[in-house]
Amino acid sequence: MNIPIDPTTTPAWKALSAIATDFHPNLREWFDTDPDRASRYSLAAGELFVDLSKNLVNEDVLAALIELADNVDLRGRIEAMFNGEHINVTEDRAVLHTALRLPADAELTVDGQDVVADVHAELDKIYDFADRVRSGEWKGVTGKPIRTVVNIGIGGSDLGPVMVYEALKPYAQEGLSARYISNIDPTDAGEKVKDLDPETTLVIVASKTFTTLETLTNARVVRDWLLSALRKRGVFDSADEAEAVKKHFVAVSTALDKVEEFGIDPVNAFGFWNWVGGRYSVDSAVGTSLAIVLGPENFADFLVGFHDIDQHFRTSAWDKNVPALMGLLNVWYTNFLNAHTHAVLPYSQYLHRFPAYLQQLTMESNGKSVTAAGEPVTYHTGEVFWGEPGTNGQHAFYQLIHQGTRLIPADFIAFANPTWALRDGEADMHELFLGNFFAQTKALAFGKTADEVRAEGTPEQIVSARVFEGNKPTTSIMAAALTPRVLGSLIALYEHITFVEGVVWGIDSFDQWGVELGKQLAKELTPAVAGDRDVLAKQDSSTRSLIEFYLDHRK
Ligand code: F6P
Repeated sequence: MNIPIDPTTTPAWKALSAIATDFHPNLREWFDTDPDRASRYSLAAGELFVDLSKNLVNEDVLAALIELADNVDLRGRIEAMFNGEHINVTEDRAVLHTALRLPADAELTVDGQDVVADVHAELDKIYDFADRVRSGEWKGVTGKPIRTVVNIGIGGSDLGPVMVYEALKPYAQEGLSARYISNIDPTDAGEKVKDLDPETTLVIVASKTFTTLETLTNARVVRDWLLSALRKRGVFDSADEAEAVKKHFVAVSTALDKVEEFGIDPVNAFGFWNWVGGRYSVDSAVGTSLAIVLGPENFADFLVGFHDIDQHFRTSAWDKNVPALMGLLNVWYTNFLNAHTHAVLPYSQYLHRFPAYLQQLTMESNGKSVTAAGEPVTYHTGEVFWGEPGTNGQHAFYQLIHQGTRLIPADFIAFANPTWALRDGEADMHELFLGNFFAQTKALAFGKTADEVRAEGTPEQIVSARVFEGNKPTTSIMAAALTPRVLGSLIALYEHITFVEGVVWGIDSFDQWGVELGKQLAKELTPAVAGDRDVLAKQDSSTRSLIEFYLDHRK
């Protein structure tokens, strides 16, 4: 079998095209005539309960999607990934984030390396360091324990850790918190350090490559801030600057040689491997800030949650396989029902950074227009992921999902138990909240007919404005509570959904060449921004006029 397979040549793709030409989904009717629909399309994956029944799927569509999985050899590709084949073809690398969460007694040797032993040796080192910081044994240069961990990174070295930190704040050790600096906008570092005590701050410089402009710039700026703040306090009468950097800066990287060049003691550097993509790295050493603030035990539970879904994905039959089905449904919507975007709507304020995290995971992975063999694709790839926590989104953009002209598949996520058991008089606030969660997917699926609107006494001229068509597809994902384990499962679920889509589209979901041109041009343009007229003169007229505006207005 030649990989990648052009999906459009498969019998399943043809079958789906034929179904789509005459497809008139009617969720009201489907639910009315099939009392088992909810139970048939509801599945368990680890501790997640996933209801797919409000999707625009019937038995014909499902059968064709499953056939598509076989036609593109999804099973073979899953095994290739889990076994460490170099499926990241443009970078000639294995893709083994699943190895980061293997239990210590698992076995996996890749390219001659005992991957499980390597992963657990590094985890032990991280956990040992985390324990020393948490207990106060690790002290800053003036002998004070650490109170704030500042992670400096960007993209995969930031979005995962910050999202998880926000999501699992209730698990943070009292008196210990984290902050995340990512943007090269000086506002980010400026705002994040302005009220920090340098004596109790530990900085983690996280960068897979240790070459990223934003991260190294921020790291130098924060190092200068820390040293000058300590200097002002007279600390360097008794200690030297190198000693302060040693006590207050650690690193996470695959390039440990570069860490040393920066002045960070390699003993205090935590490594990972080139087979971990940046956007798939929150469960590697990139999560060191989490292991410190949430604790090794919670971090280990987080990894168990990932592994639950890895096992489910690798071993479940297609009709019970949640990541496979969700990925295939996304292909159905994207390639056959003309959907362009995908909303992710967590009914949990703690997950407020989850959509942003998923944007990198899904869009950096699947925003490709050539196949893994370098051929142009003849079909759409990738989905634009976006979202906000409910109920805020309800009062902002849900109008368009309910009554707009576009098809927007949406994933709703909620938890049975709140962290905050607040009441409004007699009313349990979480019940009011979840009432909204259940109401939205019901409204989207079943809508409101003109007759129902009229029956409410609505004047005829505004009846149509108040009609809800329904048949807007949603997936509901629930768990008992937002625990570290559940969060690990949620992340792994979306990692594998992304993988499934990438396999069907025949693309390399693990490279990211599309970010390179902007980086290169930024380097070339910066001298013009600093006033170099020769470089400015070489620019196109629009870029030149924008830089001139900047130069004229910069005080
Ligand atoms: O520019 C994109 C990117 O390479 C992402 O893929 C990555 O997560 C991010 O930059 C940060 O890279 P690094 O961890 O090497 O600093």
